[in-house]
Amino acid sequence: MAPTVRSNPLRDPRDRRLPRLPDASALVVFGATGDLARKKLIPAVYDLFNRGLLPPGFVLLGFARRDWSDGDFADFARESAEKGARTPFREEVWDRLAGSVRFLQGSFDDDAAFDRLASTLEDLERSHGIGGNAAFYLSIQPSAFPVVLKQMQRTGLSSAANSGGWRRVVIEKPFGHDLASARDLNALVDDVFTPSGVYRIDHYLGKETVQNLFALRFANNLYEPIWNSQFVDSVQITMAEDVGIGTRAGFYDETGAARDVLQNHLLQLLALTAMEEPVSFGPETIRTEKLKVLRAVSLPADLARFAVRGQYEQGWLAGERVPGYLDEKDIPPDSRTETFAAVRLGIETRRWAGVPFYLRTGKRLPRRVTEIAIVFKKAPHLPFDQTDTAELGNNQLVIRVQPDEGVTLKFGSKVPGSAMEVRDVAMDFLFGEAFTEASPEAYERLILDVLLGDATLFPNNAEVEESWRIIDPLEEYWASTTPHRYRAGSWGPAAADEMLAADGRRWRRP
Ligand code: BG6
Repeated sequence: MAPTVRSNPLRDPRDRRLPRLPDASALVVFGATGDLARKKLIPAVYDLFNRGLLPPGFVLLGFARRDWSDGDFADFARESAEKGARTPFREEVWDRLAGSVRFLQGSFDDDAAFDRLASTLEDLERSHGIGGNAAFYLSIQPSAFPVVLKQMQRTGLSSAANSGGWRRVVIEKPFGHDLASARDLNALVDDVFTPSGVYRIDHYLGKETVQNLFALRFANNLYEPIWNSQFVDSVQITMAEDVGIGTRAGFYDETGAARDVLQNHLLQLLALTAMEEPVSFGPETIRTEKLKVLRAVSLPADLARFAVRGQYEQGWLAGERVPGYLDEKDIPPDSRTETFAAVRLGIETRRWAGVPFYLRTGKRLPRRVTEIAIVFKKAPHLPFDQTDTAELGNNQLVIRVQPDEGVTLKFGSKVPGSAMEVRDVAMDFLFGEAFTEASPEAYERLILDVLLGDATLFPNNAEVEESWRIIDPLEEYWASTTPHRYRAGSWGPAAADEMLAADGRRWRRP
């Protein structure tokens, strides 16, 4: 008999601190045996379940090509949760979740498999009381999106009216390959699902430190008066990784660093850093403000100098010799795909006119670090001898997205002693020290939001298309160039340093 699903007595929409429980529902994961599912999605589901944030009527339904039984998938899911979960793995918790794990074998062009999926969801309605509610997570190659979406349309899986509950779809980035393909995909997705049921994942928006940008900027009085071109010299946004491309050669070689990270994660960080205060914290108000920033973004006229891409060569990282990109397994030896991208952008608004935003991302850089650094102008007048302030740099506010999540303020201080000497010092806030509660993983928060129907942290169509408008000219320009080379374990090609030097600036060494 179907378990009775009770409404959550804690749910009070006026108090956003209280935990919210989603409706009874199924989470269907296409590509359930892939890397993303194993490393992120399944551990996040376990963590949510372990925290008591999933509803009593919940089912995790994996869909993939492998000829697996429910039991095989449950074993795989258990191992993923044991290895990847953030919260402690507990046998009794897993046993309860395992009762709600199902698997369906099929390929995306297999009509019969999708028919089975539709009838399985109906069965789950009876056995698990999921109320006709389902979220479909497309954790698959972007090239397979159209066929899967069409199958869901054909079988009526995407129709809320058919099911009597809600139907949502979650799409992993990159959303399209350029503006034209993103438009086609947007049109298709909106034809299959109601637009309010489409969730485009950019997992950076689910990170605690990224959300803290809202608090930092809009809950404090301290920063807002200086958050503009009058005080800010420039902004540097860095997303560096020490890892290479791992086992994703096929995907990565088609995609490259600009489409993989710049088009989405970095432009979203830029939008959150530069946006005006939203009138409230609803999805539409936040998206409107982000969109205004993206629309105002301008590219440099001289792309040869201010848009740099690179490809790593063999080198050393953490005492280990690592191969160059062209020697990675399954990468064509003449590939011109970039593993590093840096660009200078402008934002043509009164607040930001003349302030360069330098964005960079790369693989095989010295360490994994993501940060947003607001570099302030120098004081207009220094009543000291020049030698007193020789060691004084620009004031900086650095938001450390990861690791060592927190915020650092860099400013000048007198060096103790009888002489007047001013040197840079740092004031540090660390999430890990200030709070006892650990932050949820980005995927934990975002999966929960999908089940709750809260789209605040998901970019919409217009943002995605606007981001391609920015990236397309870069890609067109780069298509006729060969990437600069950089040694694995270095901070990218010399041309990236020259780009800042041309403006009389330097990259931070985070
Ligand atoms: C993904 C990119 O979106 O983000 C990967 O496709 C990258 O190439 C990953 O490694 C990094 O995510 P995080 O959360 O580890 O910074």
